[in-house]
Amino acid sequence: MAEFLEMRGITKRFPGVLALDNVSLSVRKGEVHALLGENGAGKSTLMKILSGAYRMDEGEILFDGKPVEIHSSHDAQALNISTIYQELNLTEQLTVAENIFMGRQPTKGPFMVDWKGMFSKAQTILDDLGVDISAQALVRDLGVAHKQMVELAKSLSINSRVLIMDEPTAPLTSREIKTLFDTIRMLRSRGVSIIYISHRLEEVMEVCDRATIMRDGRNVTVLNVAETNLDEIIRYMVGRELKEKFPKIHPDIGETRLQVDKLNAGKQVKNISFSVRSGEILGIAGLVGAGRTETARAIFGMDPKESGTVSVDGKEVSIQHPLDAIRAGIGFVTEDRKGEGLVLTMPVSQNITLATLEKFGAALRLDLGGEKAVVLDFIDKLDIKTPSHLQLARNLSGGNQQKVVLAKWLLSDAKVILFDEPTRGIDVGAKIEVYNIINSLIRSGVAVVMISSELPEILGMSDRVAVMHQGEITGIFDNDGTLTQEKVLYYATGGKKHTA
Ligand SMILES: Nc1ncnc2c1ncn2[C@@H]1O[C@H](COP(=O)(O)OP(=O)(O)OP(=O)(O)O)[C@@H](O)[C@H]1O
Ligand SMILES: [Mg+2]
Repeated sequence: MAEFLEMRGITKRFPGVLALDNVSLSVRKGEVHALLGENGAGKSTLMKILSGAYRMDEGEILFDGKPVEIHSSHDAQALNISTIYQELNLTEQLTVAENIFMGRQPTKGPFMVDWKGMFSKAQTILDDLGVDISAQALVRDLGVAHKQMVELAKSLSINSRVLIMDEPTAPLTSREIKTLFDTIRMLRSRGVSIIYISHRLEEVMEVCDRATIMRDGRNVTVLNVAETNLDEIIRYMVGRELKEKFPKIHPDIGETRLQVDKLNAGKQVKNISFSVRSGEILGIAGLVGAGRTETARAIFGMDPKESGTVSVDGKEVSIQHPLDAIRAGIGFVTEDRKGEGLVLTMPVSQNITLATLEKFGAALRLDLGGEKAVVLDFIDKLDIKTPSHLQLARNLSGGNQQKVVLAKWLLSDAKVILFDEPTRGIDVGAKIEVYNIINSLIRSGVAVVMISSELPEILGMSDRVAVMHQGEITGIFDNDGTLTQEKVLYYATGGKKHTA
């Protein structure tokens, strides 16, 4: 098969960072091509050059063997290259249909938008995708997974020849992932080339034809997916052999630190009761929409509670606001780093110290050096890829942003930390670093609640597992080696109530 799209010798520099160093990528017509590498390897940067968001410093791009110039997103569109970005890119206050046809609304006559035509065309695309979304809904009323499907519908409405997907499955449920994969295969059979970026390597094995692997802004190798395996891919990505994927430890389990009793908050948090002890990790499993995040938000005071109590170290605490939760010793690492976890326009250092300013408080004026030392220590421990602690958070790669969010809470004196999808978007090597940090927390007596959609992670790291379905806990199980993915899924899809 002829190479259809070629990026040759691409170099891109940012102040203090050589993000891409002579990188090449060739993609065939009608193939699903994975672009893989650790956090900060340069995947998103390479794709931003292809989609016209960034200008390259050196290199060339060929389409069908002919050189092309891509200086703007407009140029990319003219070549039928479309992108679904890692961070969603929709206008919240507009309808789904308006977002799908942004800038290209069907018209009636020279000036009038053909609203009826637009809504019905948009609805057809959504229905074809098999998703239950109204074209007339406002985007701000949709959940993350549905927003992702709107992005997909948008790129389908353009007759894409090249479709770039940067971490498309992160917010999706297994059913939606299946829909997405069906759509990808359908597009491939129509001759569309898809560039697929993901840290979920099992999915890469399932849906991709070839894989280009990058490390530190350089090419490492190109593999035929059918002729390789996970271990080989990981070896190329991280440049070394990884030990255990889940470094589970078993420190002494102590007294109950967090007790939640009959908590009710809105439609998705119904009569939730559980406890977590010092030194323990309670995993919370469930499908997207089961109410896991909402439960954490209610406990942390981000959403109002209707009834129920929260106690820390045996004392009931009144939490009306996140500040009350922080004072009570509860920390929350949110799943939505762009919305809540991170201030993109502030430097890495301030992002890390933000939640814990109280702790530095008085000392801050006297000892700015103290803050810097702590921050540098974290950048080092978590291996956050940044030229300096003063770099703005928005300039970090997606996975490194997630590490900053994490670092922020690890610095606090929290007794209980709620983690919501702590390793989402984080590469295989860095995941182990995150688990090790969680381990050092439980070793020091912290109680951890870990919400995750990745069942291997839940089963690999939790001491007990609570499963949620439609706002309720359908079972709490000891993770004693007999708990299986099948059993968790059974309860996550509404199996009978059960407590062990
Ligand atoms: N606008 C920018 N300004 C400065 N540095 C940047 C900018 N965009 C990216 N970088 C840097 O370029 C490098 C490559 O980042 P990139 O986002 O391409 O990584 P990635 O492979 O997509 O990682 P991830 O898996 O975490 O999403 C990183 O060191 C990042 O900090
Ligand atoms: Mg990226």
